[in-house]
Amino acid sequence: MEDFSNHSNNETFESILNAHISRRQALVGGVASAALLFVGANAASAQPSRSSLARSVFGARKSPKIGFSSIPLQSGPMPTIAQEYAMSVLAPWREKLDGSGTSFEYVGFTAAQQEQSVGIGHDGMWYFGSDSKGLLCVNHEYGTAPHMLGKSVPTNLDEVRLMQAGHGMSVIAIEKSAKGWKIAKSKKNRRITANTPATFSGPAASSALLVNPANNPVLGTLNNCANGYTPWGTYLTCEENFNGYFGATSSSWRASTSQARYGVTATGFGYDWHKYDPRFDLSNAAYANEINRFGWVVEVDPNKPGSTPVKRTALGRVKHEGADVVEGKNGRIVVYMGDDERFDYIYKFVSRDNWKKMRSRGVSPLDEGTLYVAKLNADGTGQWLELSTANPALATWTIDRILVETRLAADLAGATKMDRPEWISTNKAGETYVTLTNNTRRGTSGQAPADAANPRAVNTYGHIIRFRDGDKHIGTSFVWEIFALADNVFDESGQMFGSPDGIWADEDGRVFVQTDGEQPDRHNDQMLVADSKTREFKRLFTGVVGGEVTGVAVTPSRKTMFINIQHPGDGDNTRTNFPAKFTGAAGPVPRDSIVVISRKNGGIVGT
Ligand code: FEO
Ligand code: CA
Ligand code: CA
Ligand code: CA
Repeated sequence: MEDFSNHSNNETFESILNAHISRRQALVGGVASAALLFVGANAASAQPSRSSLARSVFGARKSPKIGFSSIPLQSGPMPTIAQEYAMSVLAPWREKLDGSGTSFEYVGFTAAQQEQSVGIGHDGMWYFGSDSKGLLCVNHEYGTAPHMLGKSVPTNLDEVRLMQAGHGMSVIAIEKSAKGWKIAKSKKNRRITANTPATFSGPAASSALLVNPANNPVLGTLNNCANGYTPWGTYLTCEENFNGYFGATSSSWRASTSQARYGVTATGFGYDWHKYDPRFDLSNAAYANEINRFGWVVEVDPNKPGSTPVKRTALGRVKHEGADVVEGKNGRIVVYMGDDERFDYIYKFVSRDNWKKMRSRGVSPLDEGTLYVAKLNADGTGQWLELSTANPALATWTIDRILVETRLAADLAGATKMDRPEWISTNKAGETYVTLTNNTRRGTSGQAPADAANPRAVNTYGHIIRFRDGDKHIGTSFVWEIFALADNVFDESGQMFGSPDGIWADEDGRVFVQTDGEQPDRHNDQMLVADSKTREFKRLFTGVVGGEVTGVAVTPSRKTMFINIQHPGDGDNTRTNFPAKFTGAAGPVPRDSIVVISRKNGGIVGT
């Protein structure tokens, strides 16, 4: 998005790094590697020497095997992968969910057909199953009118309904056959769309802020970006840029303070749904609070096809990128979440009690607990600031307002403005990795300057932070350091990437990094594998022109990985026909698809 909406006056830290930090130091030595030896709920106040620190707190003890041959950047119409690996395509947009292996045609495609087939804009996902069959939950973040309809905007309600049906997520039964992975026939195959009945749960569930004068039911999920999954077998799908789907038909409409803070405008992102579907018309008083019904983490039980998706209000309302779930001390559930906008924040939720005990009492661990927002100090420590009425800054608020207008609450709490927090992933060793995708406004006129945690003004290529949370994830302090600054300079590690977005830290110390956006010299998006000990990167996969590489899921053995190509060619068939063979202007429209990756010798993906 071209704008940002955090105009709060939160403190930003003096740059302790600025232009003098050497790039090599940044990549290998650790910028701001002021990681203090961590001693529990309260970080040590003494600052140890640089040499004593990061190694004892961050990175794998021993380098994981990353033995494949790194490949060069690409700019062509089809993906490439390291020579030791094989790939195949699964579940492209419009493939029927009946296991027939066939797809609906692009021309004449209807909303009813879309509801029975794979959606568009494949993004975060997770796999629940064995090494040969199971359920893959796949988010469908977005589809534009040019790509879905072949026209610039929808011009009737049927076209809006088709676009809405392409959004949401799919639960897809898949199985491995002699010819590779395919969609299986299953009663569990399911589409959840922008019009599927949903429900609210948690502290804000009965808030007046979530009710419309029209008394219309809660429907749908939108802009489902990254994801999470729980130890009790459910999937979390996260609503990100929901603001873009709303618009106003009346020229007298003005954004409220809350709406402005969420980037809500009269035209949205140009989807024009509001012209045909009153639910998305900001100036229709009957639907005044409809927009508050989006921006949530939504829980879906893939094994119960008749279940209603539940919007978990305790996790707050922001432009949720993902929801990284960790089992913390005493079995409490911890969820790390990024709010992806320039100068927005990193959050965590901690359940009130042990998750098994809560569930045995019939309470969801995602319904009772405490929400926090992160403050990152220049010395490499950080605090989790509580977002509740117990915080003096929020004493006059109500909990439902804190959870619905979470960005405004976090502004008052004093959170650190970040360079667009995207995915978060915590590994078995308890390190949490966060991608900060980019922020070209950082340090520009009138905007927050560079600081320790966001060390570059005009941050074109983004960076990755890692932190170690206090008290086995449930504490209120943490230590952090910069893991990598992405840039456009080749070095011996060959990393050269920009706009890190998807991230997954595996149990051996590998960090898979996927990109979305500005790549050096306008190359295609890619997936790299980093060594958390040495911080060396190798490039495993490159995507297609105009497309993003996003989403990562693995089978239990980790010998099969699923990733996505989103918006190949930005929908333009003169750039690519992926996954079909590229034929140029007359060829088929490109289709968002899953790519299945395996090592030819059967090893763990990443080795
Ligand atoms: Fe949907 Fe922030 O990426
Ligand atoms: Ca993303
Ligand atoms: Ca992104
Ligand atoms: Ca994207």
